[in-house]
Amino acid sequence: MKNLIDILDLSTEEIDELLKKANDIIAHPEQYREKCRYKKLATLFFEPSTRTRLSFEAAMYELGGQVLGFSEAASSSAAKGESVADTVRTVSCYADIIAMRHPKEVGPLVAAMAASVPVINAGDGGHNHPTQTLTDLLTISREQGRLDNMTVGFCGDLKFGRTVHSLIAALSRYENVKFVLISPEELKLPSYIKKEILQYKHLDYVQTTNLESVMPDLDILYMTRVQRERFFNEEDYLRLKDSYILTPEKLKTAKPDMSILHPLPRVNEISTAVDADPRAAYFKQVLNGKYVRMALIMKLLGVE
Ligand code: CP
Repeated sequence: MKNLIDILDLSTEEIDELLKKANDIIAHPEQYREKCRYKKLATLFFEPSTRTRLSFEAAMYELGGQVLGFSEAASSSAAKGESVADTVRTVSCYADIIAMRHPKEVGPLVAAMAASVPVINAGDGGHNHPTQTLTDLLTISREQGRLDNMTVGFCGDLKFGRTVHSLIAALSRYENVKFVLISPEELKLPSYIKKEILQYKHLDYVQTTNLESVMPDLDILYMTRVQRERFFNEEDYLRLKDSYILTPEKLKTAKPDMSILHPLPRVNEISTAVDADPRAAYFKQVLNGKYVRMALIMKLLGVE
């Protein structure tokens, strides 16, 4: 595999291998310190990011490599009208691998077609976020000890939530995963994902607007932010933004070993009072993101 644009570019075996490698990096970080010496990662971020960009950069530094790039389109020649294709042709002359975030769904795909080095999709508009999914899978497997036989609740903005779209695609490949889709009517999972994944594979799923009613069933609660930047008008955003706010009170009926995930950033949807709950896994998730990106960089660069 040369690029990672969609999580389904990876087979289940490849995902399992990456998770195994990430666990080995966690256990033996010293063995990976020089793996990417003299290699360069370019981070081309046309949209804001804290975790994805900095975890990619930390990952490359921890592998002994180097990093270059930009964190906003305004500081690149995109601001002068340069195309994504020309940008990555240029960056291919300077770097061995590219991680790109772009507000348009096709941004990283176009980049992969033009680049002569591997391209990783670091988030493409409201579409996909495959490296967040690797992060989520690593976190679920470390917290629950498995990726199959579980009930996963997705709560919040399921329409524009690219992390949700990619994680549903990945989990749909594991045995006996039940999906509980919790959102306001306006932010329901796009019908193409329901049709092409959940219905096509005859998977068990329910849709609801009520988080409390399904809480006792969940092994994983995947909270998401209502994303102001994806709305066409502020009024709709303001009406929907606080649809779900997870509090210690609401967690009283949850399983004692349920894991709470969130790709972050959070705004109001998880009260900070939940952070001390042992089920809160979202900051462990942040750290796992660095390790799984180390494993992915090594795979795409062909480093053993
Ligand atoms: N989870 C995630 O993509 O976070 P950032 O937007 O901060 O990269």
